[in-house]
Amino acid sequence: MIITGKYPNLRLRRNRKNDWSRRLVQENNLSVNDLILPIFLIDGKNKKESIKSMPGVFRYSIDKIPTIVDKAIKFKIPMIALFPYTNKSIKNNLGLEALNENNLVCRAIRLIKKKYRNKIGIMCDVALDPYTSHGHDGLLKKGKILNDETVEILINQSLLQAEMGCDVIAPSDMMDGRIGKIRKALDKKNFDEVQILSYASKYASSFYGPFREAIGSYKTLKGDKKTYQMDFRNSSEALREVALDIKEGADIVMVKPGLPYLDIIKSIKENFKIPVFAYQVSGEYSMIKNSINKKIINENIIIETLIGFKRAGASAIVTYFADEIAKDLKNYK
Ligand code: PBG
Repeated sequence: MIITGKYPNLRLRRNRKNDWSRRLVQENNLSVNDLILPIFLIDGKNKKESIKSMPGVFRYSIDKIPTIVDKAIKFKIPMIALFPYTNKSIKNNLGLEALNENNLVCRAIRLIKKKYRNKIGIMCDVALDPYTSHGHDGLLKKGKILNDETVEILINQSLLQAEMGCDVIAPSDMMDGRIGKIRKALDKKNFDEVQILSYASKYASSFYGPFREAIGSYKTLKGDKKTYQMDFRNSSEALREVALDIKEGADIVMVKPGLPYLDIIKSIKENFKIPVFAYQVSGEYSMIKNSINKKIINENIIIETLIGFKRAGASAIVTYFADEIAKDLKNYK
């Protein structure tokens, strides 16, 4: 710590006195380059459907995708993340819809790549939870989530998404060993340019509730995800997860949820010097959005939370506020 003087000749308030001076000494900032916008998909035509627990967020039918992607591109958001709401009738024990080349995600990737080419990046979750009747990210047998058998399906899900044109494969399932196996399979099929963003430190969290409503797995989820997602009491374990995923070939790692885990972002950044993304998840979004709507807090809280991620060392943030904040970043103080 360097201290160059002491009060009264040193007064730290001097630099804060004027707006122009505060702007000059800012250590961190947020730009549209830091934002990733999640988009929920739903079957049908001409649908923009609201989600009860996520005010201001919608599910879009494939034909309506341009309404939201046009906006993202206009605001220069670098990447979107696709998540499907799958009809119950299509779900089964094995989550086989994940491997259907005409599932919502595949159709959306094809449309977006055809219409927008490389103007915006596409990131896709690799996990089975939108497709399984039990709502788990992997195969469930006798109350257990099978690891290696699940990974075999995830490899095929990744290959399919890559084939459709997905730019960034994002395994969010927390199975052991999946990054290495997916990397190997992608390379073998000449998808060596496809990036892997590993949800390396993903915690078993109550903050995912609204997301599960959004993708239709809230009511169907049997039990919890504690045998594969991490215990929120742990931090060293997050570093072990990240170390393994880097060794296995992850290009970027994700920490999820966001705000309660800034310490994890910071220590990953300090220890590994790899790009770290943060996911400001659905529960965080809804708590903030509801409080803004009820005028309990003002909307500047959005930028305050997002800069918190930047301060901790995140390179980018997946946030349901991405379009709203990108639109008028200048209006936030
Ligand atoms: C599923 C997945 C989840 C989220 C992203 N991918 C939920 C979960 O693991 O149950 C949560 C995102 C959010 O809450 O915004 N693998």
